[in-house]
Amino acid sequence: MPQSVSVELIPGIQAAAMAAIDGATSVADLRLAEARFLGKNGEITGLMKQMGAVAKEDRPAFGAAVNDAKTAVTARYEARLALLTQAEMSARLAAEKIDVTMPGRPVRAGTMHILEQTTRKIKRVLAGLGFEYQEGPELEQFRYNFDALNYPPDHPAMDDQDTFFINDELLLRTQCTALQGRIFETRKPPLRVFTVGSTFRNEAVDRTHNHTFHQVDCFMIDEHVSMAHLKGTLGAFAQAMFGGDVKVRFRPDFFPFVEPGVDYAISSPKLFGGKWVELGGAGLIHPNILEQHGIDTRRYSGFAFGLGVERIPMMATGVDDLRLFMENDSRFLNQFRREIL
Ligand code: FA5
Repeated sequence: MPQSVSVELIPGIQAAAMAAIDGATSVADLRLAEARFLGKNGEITGLMKQMGAVAKEDRPAFGAAVNDAKTAVTARYEARLALLTQAEMSARLAAEKIDVTMPGRPVRAGTMHILEQTTRKIKRVLAGLGFEYQEGPELEQFRYNFDALNYPPDHPAMDDQDTFFINDELLLRTQCTALQGRIFETRKPPLRVFTVGSTFRNEAVDRTHNHTFHQVDCFMIDEHVSMAHLKGTLGAFAQAMFGGDVKVRFRPDFFPFVEPGVDYAISSPKLFGGKWVELGGAGLIHPNILEQHGIDTRRYSGFAFGLGVERIPMMATGVDDLRLFMENDSRFLNQFRREIL
């Protein structure tokens, strides 16, 4: 058997291992060097496997020399590993350094839109007065927006509410009063219902009129309901919305769905210099409407009132152009970060 492996091989391999270890500049490099020399199939590990090819009398010396080489290379490897690990850790820490004294970035929280604040307050107040909240569709049928509300065909009152028609039967509701017919079709008195929602009119836009705005509509049907109940309810509503010193004024007005019909205004020393500001329309629900829906008018009567939601923050804040509420300019809206209602 050829005796080709001898102890002379070892210094060369050891030197190569030391050079590879010393030359490694990263932990990853160093691990490659370790695998190459000390790994399972590494060159130093391989020397042991060649013991059989060493002359028998040389084997103890060969084994000892391989072990010495392995110990020396392992020690060098471990020292270098500690050094490189430390260096890499320091570099990472330096890169991730946090200056805990730096001021934090302000968190930009959203704010509740002023019309949403108003709507929530309206809901709280009317629910507190015993009214139940219901919703109707914005894309409404002609018959609920007009026919069911006692508008005779081609009545000029319909022209007051210039309408966005989708087709002959469908339109964008011009008033939240359109909810009434839907409720009367499915429910029986006593009823106390209100809604708040978007309304649309195809009219010239100015400071106090927009094509898209919001209305509250509220009605009550029960035995012996009179104008006194309407006045009491609107008075309580206005006081809850604006404060105890608010006065409510009623003046005759015409709406096809109420008889008698009124418009109403409020005034308070704190708002608009005490001037009267019109809020909306109201009245006793027209008997035609009740009868049309099978409600016995000898027993039941009802009141209804409606108002423009935008009027409320206009009064409360002094903003005199309601278009601003719908433009969603955050510079304007941010003024109402704190709830004002
Ligand atoms: C009505 O819409 C009736 N449905 C109100 C009503 C209900 C009367 C129940 C009787 C019984 P009027 O068209 O006046 O009425 O509108 C009511 C309120 O909505 C107005 O007082 C105003 O505050 C608001 N409003 C009307 N048109 C606009 C508009 N283009 N932009 C902003 N607000 C409007």
